[in-house]
This record gives sequence, C-alpha cells and structure tokens, in this order.
Amino acid sequence: VAGRRYKIVDLPALFGSELDRLPLVLRILLENIVRNMRGQERDDAVAAIFGWLASGSSEAEIPFQPGRVLMHDTTSTPALVDIAAMRNVLAEHGVDPSLLNPVIPVDVSVDHSLAVEEFARPDAISLNLQHEMRRNEERYRFLRWASKTLSGVRIHPPGTGIMHTINLEQLATVVCAETRREESGEETWAVPDTLIGTDSHTPMINGIGVLGWGVGGLEAQTVMFGMPTMLRIPDVVGVRLTGALGAACTSTDLALTVTQRLRQAGVTGDFVEFFGPSVDTLSAGDRAVVANMAPEYGATTGYFGIDRHTISYLRATGRTEDAQALVEAYARRTGLWFEPGAEPRYSRVIEIDLDDIGMHVAGPTRPQDRLRLADVPAALQQFSVSAPSPELPLHPIAIASITSCTNTSDPALLIAAGLVARKARAFGLQPARWVKTSLAPGSPASASYLKRTGLLPDLEAIGFGIVGFGCATCIGNSGPLTEPIRKMIDEGSGKPVAALSGNRNFPGRVHPDLDLGFIMSPALVIAYGLAGDADKNLEAGPIQTTADGKPVYLRDLWPTREEIARCLAAAQDTADYRRDFERAEKNPAWHGLDAPDSALFPWDERSNYLQRPPFASLEAGGLLGNYRAYPLMVLGDDITTDHISPASAIPPKSLVADYLVQRGDKRNDLNVFASRRGNWQVMLRGTFHNRNVINLLKDGLPVAHTVHVPSGDVMPIWEAAQRYRDDGESIVVIAGERYGTGSSRDWAAKGLRLLNVRSVLACSFERIHRSNLIGMGILPVQLPAAAIKGMPAIALGDRIEIHADADALSPRCPIAVRVHRANGTVDTIAAKAAVETQLEINLLKAGGVIPLILDQT
Ligand code: F3S
Repeated sequence: VAGRRYKIVDLPALFGSELDRLPLVLRILLENIVRNMRGQERDDAVAAIFGWLASGSSEAEIPFQPGRVLMHDTTSTPALVDIAAMRNVLAEHGVDPSLLNPVIPVDVSVDHSLAVEEFARPDAISLNLQHEMRRNEERYRFLRWASKTLSGVRIHPPGTGIMHTINLEQLATVVCAETRREESGEETWAVPDTLIGTDSHTPMINGIGVLGWGVGGLEAQTVMFGMPTMLRIPDVVGVRLTGALGAACTSTDLALTVTQRLRQAGVTGDFVEFFGPSVDTLSAGDRAVVANMAPEYGATTGYFGIDRHTISYLRATGRTEDAQALVEAYARRTGLWFEPGAEPRYSRVIEIDLDDIGMHVAGPTRPQDRLRLADVPAALQQFSVSAPSPELPLHPIAIASITSCTNTSDPALLIAAGLVARKARAFGLQPARWVKTSLAPGSPASASYLKRTGLLPDLEAIGFGIVGFGCATCIGNSGPLTEPIRKMIDEGSGKPVAALSGNRNFPGRVHPDLDLGFIMSPALVIAYGLAGDADKNLEAGPIQTTADGKPVYLRDLWPTREEIARCLAAAQDTADYRRDFERAEKNPAWHGLDAPDSALFPWDERSNYLQRPPFASLEAGGLLGNYRAYPLMVLGDDITTDHISPASAIPPKSLVADYLVQRGDKRNDLNVFASRRGNWQVMLRGTFHNRNVINLLKDGLPVAHTVHVPSGDVMPIWEAAQRYRDDGESIVVIAGERYGTGSSRDWAAKGLRLLNVRSVLACSFERIHRSNLIGMGILPVQLPAAAIKGMPAIALGDRIEIHADADALSPRCPIAVRVHRANGTVDTIAAKAAVETQLEINLLKAGGVIPLILDQT
C-alpha cells in the first residue's frame, strides 16, 4: 500500500470460503486469535469459532487482546488510583514500583467533569472551563502525575471533547500499522484497530468498522497489564436494514427505533451486526449514532462494516490518504470489506424497515420507550401533582440540552439543529423563560463548522450557544436549574421535564431533582426548548406564536434534506479536525498545573478527592464460601448503576455532604459524585445515595438508609454494613431484573465490596456490571424470576443461605440458595452462578482484579 509492505493474517488464504459465512465481528475475533495465540490453544480457539457456524451459538471461551484502551476522567481516576495504590504495595514489599506500567496504549479523555454553570452568554465556554479547572484541580494534578509516570497513558485535557467523539475523529485508525520484533527482524503488520473502553458507549466506534466495546474499569486494568479478556463466543444478531429514512427523519429516530426493537427482541450480551441493502444509505455519522446506543438496546456491540462511507469519513476528518488507502486495501484483502448483498450466518436475524420510521422521542424514564410526538402528553399524564403551579405549565421543560456523544458527533444532526435555530430566529422566537438551554458538542471541530456555516450565531441568538466540549448535562453536570423551576420543585407544584439529545433519561440522571426526560434529536431539543411545555403536542399544535400573532409549527422550522446537505458540504469543504483538536490539546490551564512526577504518588490524608484505597489489601477469595446472610437491600427491577453509585451532584443536605463539610468542604460547592471517585470514603458513603432507590425491605426510608435487620434500626447503609461486619454477619443484596443497567462505573461494584457484600442475587444482570462485580470478587447469582415475583417476597427477618464454595464453582454452575423465613419455614431456590468463563472463576477465587494483578507483578 502506497509503496509500503505490510504483513497480515491472510484470513481468506487460511480459511477459504468458510470465512464468508462468518459475521464480520467474528472474522475480527478470528484474526486476533490467529495473530496473538500459538499452538494447540490457537487451533482450539479457531475450531471453536468455526464450530459456532453449526448452530450460531457456542459455549466456548476465546481470548481477545485489544490493541488499546480508552477511558474517561471519572472511570480512569479510580483505575489509576488503584494502580498508584498497587505501586505503594509493591514498594512496601521491596519490589520496584515502576514495574507496574500499562503495556498497551491508554487514552484518557477529560470529558466528564464539565458542568453547565453558565449558559446563554458568549463567554460561557471559558467561564465553565475555569469553574471546571478550579473545582477539579487536585484530581487533574493526579491525572497529570499518571501521564508523566505511567508509560503509554495519554491524557486529553478538558476542552478537547467527548471520548467517543475524539475516538471517532482522531484516535481510531480502523486499520493500524504495528511494528513487531520477530526472529527475522522488525516487521510491520497491518492489523484491525480494536479496543475496549471504560464507558458503555464505546461501541460508538463500531460505526466506522472498529470493533470495541465497553467494560468496567476493573476489566480494563487486566487488559492494560497485558492479560487478554476472555469471552464466550457471542451470539451474533444480524439486523437487516431495508428501505430508506423519510425526509424528516434523523439518525436519532433510527437509533431510538433500533433501541426499542432490540430491547423487545432481547439482545442482552449479544453482538449486533447491521447488514442488508440499506446500510449503504447511511453515512458513517448516522451509523455511529446507532452504534452508540448499543448499551441502551442491551448489546455488546452495534457493528457496521468498513465500506465507502468509512473511507469518506476518514477523509472528512483529516486522516491521510495513505491511512485511507491502508484501510481500504486491508479490508478488501482480508474479507472485512462490507458487501451490501452478503448474508453471513447469524444467530438470528431481526428486520428493520427504515420506511416505517417516523419522528420520535423516547421517555419519560427509559431510552427504549419510543413515542410519537403526539403521544408525549399522554405519557406524562400519570406524573401529575395535587397543587399545580399557577405560573408554569404542569410539565415545563426545565432543561433543553443538545448534549452527549450520541447526537452531537454527527455533523448532519448539529447542522439540522442550526437550521431550526436559524428559522426560529427569523420568526423572532425565544425559549420559555424557565428553560435552561445549552449546547455541549462532542468536539471543538463542531464549533468550527457551525461557525463556518454561519449557524452558530443563529444558535446563540436563541440561547443555544456552546457551553463547552464535554459530557456536561448528559452525565448529570447540568448545573443549577432556573429560578422558576427551582421554586416549582421546592414547592412540589409540578413535574419538570428534560429535553435531551443524549442516550439516557433515567430518573435523576441529568439532575438529581428531575425524574422525567425525553431523548430526541438536537433539532427537536430546540423545538421543545422553544415550546417550554412538554404537554404541547408538537405534531399538531404550534410551538409558539410570533410577536404579531402568527402561530409557528414544527413544520415551519424543520429543514429539508437538501438544506442540510448543502450546509454539510460547505462545512466539510473547509473542515480541519486535526487543527481544532491540536489547538484544544494545548489547553494552557492544564499544562500549567504543577504535577508531581515521582514513581509513587504523594497521597495527602487531608484530601477530599484522592485517598489511597484499601483494595490492594483485601483478602483473596474471602467472599466465597457457604454462609447465611442478611439482605442489606432488597430491590426491584431496573436498578441502574446510577442508583447504586450516582454520578450527579452531591445534594448539599445529605450524608455525603455532611461528611465532606466536616472535612472542610463548602456546602454550596460540593461538585458531583463522579469527581470524588478517587476518594473511597466518599464513594462508600455514596453507595445507593439516590432518592429513587426503593429498598423493598421497608417503604419510605430516607435516602441511603436501610434497616439493620437484627435490631430493626433504620440507619445509613454504610453504618448498617459496618455493624453487620462488626458482628461477624454476612450480607447480600437482592434485586429483580436487569440489575446494573446503565453506565459502566466500577464504583457500583467497588461500593458493594467496601460494604462487604458477599453476593448479589438478581433475576438478571447487565453485562458490564456483572463483570465489575466479579472484578471485585463479589459473586453474582442469578435467581429464577419466580424467586422474586412468584413466592413470598423476602422480608425483614429473613436470612439467605448460600452455598458457593470456591472449589465447587464453575461457569453457570447451580448455586443452592435457601430462604429462612422469620416464621421458621424454609424455601429453596434453584439459582445459578452468573459467571461465564473460567477466567471469571479465577478472578473470584483471587478476590478480584487487583489481588490478581499484584500477584502476577
Ligand atoms: Fe459522556 Fe454521556 Fe457520552 S456521559 S461519554 S456524553 S453518554
């Protein structure tokens, strides 16, 4: 390619026509095995992959060695804190701490800490960045220490954008050149770009043909230290796309449709691959939006193959011609090039006809609940209050935020929003006075093209000026609400709603006081911001009336395909993604931070952000065994990681606030939970610190409280856990379906480990959280649904007997569980270990990832 020779794993030469029957994702896993393994192990793994073809399913485990790791600041901080603490342990044992270094590249994007303090003013970007640097300075010094001390760790400072956008626009190579030292000398290989990321939306990169998925920080630690991640050969669900999106539809509408359809079909833990004739009608930007929402539809991946759109995207984002040529030549040569007519073997096939898709939102509490605009008011009816506010509508739009990697990385979506703003401006419309408006795009490149097309002034004119480049509202850093909304919440006189272009609308996700939110395209966010009232039917009625009394409807503002295409072409002609990124990388405030560069991090006991965690000295295998336990919490269905370990603002009147104020913090400047993940003391107290957690042991408990069963006392959860520990009692957590949905945050597992929870028993687990529990040595046990719904519910005074001896554990083995009722009766439950691989068994026996890494070092 371009005068250079590359060594490759020549899949077609090795496997002939059989290769064509494999889905593309399995071809990439196959390449990884052939390149990285040797001897019998390799032959067995290859045979297992081709064995999968017989039934489209397999129980066999295979290793996967990704080429790189992607993290963000709030998942990387705890992982890097763990590494710093492990270095301490090594030094204390006389081992050189600098031996502990990642062996593959680790990119960290500082994107999760930007808060929308200032909005709708021209200097909002710089003011919010200043707030961010001030509040997070201590943590950012630590990240800078990590980048100076740990080889291979690259930090992208605040202002560079959201990790998945940076990955799409800058980091991903799709096919990379790798120099390897071989017996014959140095060889340059061409290999598929593969990764894992400590964020559940990592599959966004599947949109440009890169295989990667989200894992917990604990699994990432094993990978960065050179251990493969083991996976059961996945079921691969093929989603055949036919038809074409209608003129008024966006990729957001497609993503919401896919989310709803695949949630209904049940693809949890599966690899999803899109195929069929209509894939070719979707740009790489469209595909990335759909791929991004893989965790919302429950899948591990949402993969699109490499084709002409991939190459166009690489060109548009400034990748060199040689790099583009390498991708195309490699993909064509090795069978990774997407052919619209190909139909490999899939575990099952789901059909989606793009002709059937209309304009939609999803909500008000789950991303899979897709609705037509006309059905929004009916969906809100159940959320009313007895004494509505006389000044505001019952369901006012509190936040209208164009936010999130999902829908701000695709230029077509932002340009459509800009065109709606232009027309609204021409009509003289403004958002309702109670709406907090914001635009936080995925990267500075978007600011450039919005500026060049003249759309940025239009957005600014109606309050949607840029507030910064980061996750912001999407991760709960939405900042203070407007005064009228604050008053309404304090009085309990209405149910405010968020309009978001994000991917999650769980209660409390974007703001602790907002339980309702609708996910939608950026253009619709503007429309709802202008309407100010979620009960308006935007399909039929006007959004607003102009000063001279003319009603303005959504159709009056909506851009045509041609308008969007024209602006897009103008934007792309002059785009320079690389220049914008490099400029942002130079962030002077970041580079001016005075950070240590010692091999060991200098911990400070007075710090409220960073404390050396005790994980490195936890007892190996201490949580397995046969025991009787008290339930610490009994929870219902859909407990998300936001319920277990919130990321959003620390409420000023709360247990955690009291603790921090005691240690010198100011009550009115407490920041968010996500920024405290380097401090295990805060995170321990913050576990289940979410007012939406319903502990079925007893209704109406205060936030983060439970019942200490033996005494019947109501107390803070961590104090109850401490009392059980002091009394030598074991504890478990019981939950219903889909326990651990949502973000990949490993603190949702670490918090339970610090509470000394030995096992979580749930009817089903979300993939990443299940793996995080195992990474902390906590056994996930899967209960039959009848255990929660079909027999008397577990009640105060019940004790749970579990038989989970280390020697008897194997993947998916039966686990004997008995419920000893307070009245003396005993119910037996046929449960099983929610453990998939032998590596996971080994992790449980070792006590989790950290003891294992220390042992191997
Ligand atoms: Fe950030 Fe939200 Fe994406 S938290 S990584 S913008 S899903």
